[in-house]
Amino acid sequence: MEFILVKKDHAPHIALIQLNRPKELNALNLQLMGELRDALKEIDEDDDIRAIIITGNERAFAAGADIKQMAGKTTIDMWKVDQFSTWDQINKTRKPIIAAVSGFALGGGCELAMTCDMIVASETAQFGQPEIKIGVMPGAGGTQRLTKALGKAKAMELVLTGKFIDADTALSYGLINKIVPVELYLEEATKLASEIASMSPIATQMAKEAVKRSFEVPLEEGLHFERKNFYMLFSSEDQKEGMNAFVEKRKPDFKGS
Ligand code: CAA
Repeated sequence: MEFILVKKDHAPHIALIQLNRPKELNALNLQLMGELRDALKEIDEDDDIRAIIITGNERAFAAGADIKQMAGKTTIDMWKVDQFSTWDQINKTRKPIIAAVSGFALGGGCELAMTCDMIVASETAQFGQPEIKIGVMPGAGGTQRLTKALGKAKAMELVLTGKFIDADTALSYGLINKIVPVELYLEEATKLASEIASMSPIATQMAKEAVKRSFEVPLEEGLHFERKNFYMLFSSEDQKEGMNAFVEKRKPDFKGS
């Protein structure tokens, strides 16, 4: 891996992926995205890992897709490369992913953070979809995920003006989960990941799947999907452990089986 760093033992049951093109503000070139996809696939298949953190560095989570790599491309070049199929794979990750964001999360960087399940931000974080300023528009889900998170009026303003919002505004818009001082953002994301990792990994993955489904299907279909996953969990040992532990007034010890 050239452009990401992967630490599978960042904390018990937690993997950390750090985007690592600091000089380019972690601009998401094709190779980086391919590495991210491959790392997430491997982590998703690793039974010991229950939650994932994706981060950048203090200055930038990611300043978007790599403009220099795209600048001279034609439509057919873009179609052949099909860069967004990589994003589709990332979106299929079953384990919960937390984006730990400091500094710029712009364009594809904002879209990557929104593809994650939760966002913990430092007080220096800035979010935006500035593609309009370079003659294009979001292409990795920005128009859809931002609108679902913020509603039409605010999403339209960000997408059509390309302006950035700070962490406080992002929190008040419901885009992110929490803001912490810059020296604590990774620690806070790790705390949240650890809390999730203490639950049954089967239940967390099925719950994540059901929440994500709510963005794609009508309510009735979503309710059926939820019910199916709820019933399925009664085949897991973790369900017995969780409910017995409650009855016996002790802490559950979830094994992921
Ligand atoms: N692609 C390629 N390189 C980038 C980049 C990007 N998205 N963002 C920053 N860089 C590079 C800069 O070119 C610069 O490299 P050099 O030193 O070689 O010149 C380096 O990173 C540092 O950047 P700046 O000197 O510009 O730093 P700054 O602090 O003055 O400004 C910034 C920071 C406001 C984030 C500015 O870099 C910027 O506007 N970046 C582009 C943001 C953008 O438009 N993102 C959307 C990309 S398109 C997209 O993402 C499509 C999609 O939907 C998938």
